[in-house]
Amino acid sequence: MNKALWSLVSFALFAAGCGSPEQGTTEQASTSPLAASGSTASFTPEEVGEYLVTVGGCHDCHTPGFLEVGWEVPESQYFTGGDFGWTGPWGTTYAPNLRLSVRNLTEDAWVEMLRTRNTLPPMPWMNVNRMHEDDMRAIYRYLVSLGPAGDPAPAALQPGQEPSTPYVVLAPPQGLPE
Ligand code: HEC
Repeated sequence: MNKALWSLVSFALFAAGCGSPEQGTTEQASTSPLAASGSTASFTPEEVGEYLVTVGGCHDCHTPGFLEVGWEVPESQYFTGGDFGWTGPWGTTYAPNLRLSVRNLTEDAWVEMLRTRNTLPPMPWMNVNRMHEDDMRAIYRYLVSLGPAGDPAPAALQPGQEPSTPYVVLAPPQGLPE
């Protein structure tokens, strides 16, 4: 496993160790600070969405090979789903193919999911829950604009089930004070 993947594992371990996040029902203004600043005024929602998923680290898990080769992954494979499992106390999860997922939902249902869903690790749901609605909509538009590609990710496994794919093991934090 290369260095980049290891740093992601550290990040994911941190995220996974955060316990149960609260439901993402915080009050939010409907306008993103990004949009309100006027800095994105000349960009389409698709362009804003592309920017947000890029700086938001979404490729790390949802684009196959991204942690190994970064931007050498061809755009045709962007967001077609992670190629290894994440195993921990919750079982094993796979980062879904978002180019397929997004087409199963209306834009409003997408917003509702991003705002309220809180499982499973290592998806950073607690962070995404607090995204502003117009940014969630911009991401939806961008993913739809990519078009469908690839296959659905493998189904999540229960704790104790052995994955038949490569996987990363995330252990709970060690050495915490008593
Ligand atoms: C550390 C790895 C990781 C990162 C980073 C990550 N995800 Fe995920 N994502 C996952 C995993 C694993 C799942 C499946 C877990 C679950 O179902 O809750 C998931 C599930 C999802 C789902 C649900 C899709 C479905 O079909 O059920 C959406 C939407 C999503 N991620 C969007 C994003 C966005 C947007 C970003 C960037 C802000 C992002 N993810 C970053 C790992 C990640």
